[in-house]
Amino acid sequence: MTWTRIASVEQLGEDEALAVSLGERKLAVFHSGGSFHVTDNICTHAYALLSEGYVEDGCVECPLHQARFDLSTGAAMCAPATQPIRVYPVRIEGSDILVEA
Ligand code: FES
Repeated sequence: MTWTRIASVEQLGEDEALAVSLGERKLAVFHSGGSFHVTDNICTHAYALLSEGYVEDGCVECPLHQARFDLSTGAAMCAPATQPIRVYPVRIEGSDILVEA
C-alpha cells in the first residue's frame, strides 16, 4: 500500500465530486462536510458512476436509482443498494489529496 496523489483540494468545492483513475481502479473523490473522501466510483447496485451523483451531508446519492451511501464508512443507507462501497484512507498534504490504495 502506498500513498498516491490523486487530486488537488482546489479541484473540489463543498459537495462536489471528481472521477479519477488509479491504475485499473475507478475512484471518486468527494468533498463534503468539510472532509475529503475517496471511494470506488461504481455503485454496488448496478452500473452508475457515483461521481455523477448528488452529494450532501457526507453522503452521495446514486444518479441512477437514488441509493445513498455514507462517504465515511461506505455503508448503503437506503434501497435499492444493500452492499457498501469501498472507502479508502485519505490524507491531505498541503493542497494535495493523497489516497492509500
Ligand atoms: S445503480 Fe446505483 S442505485 Fe442503482
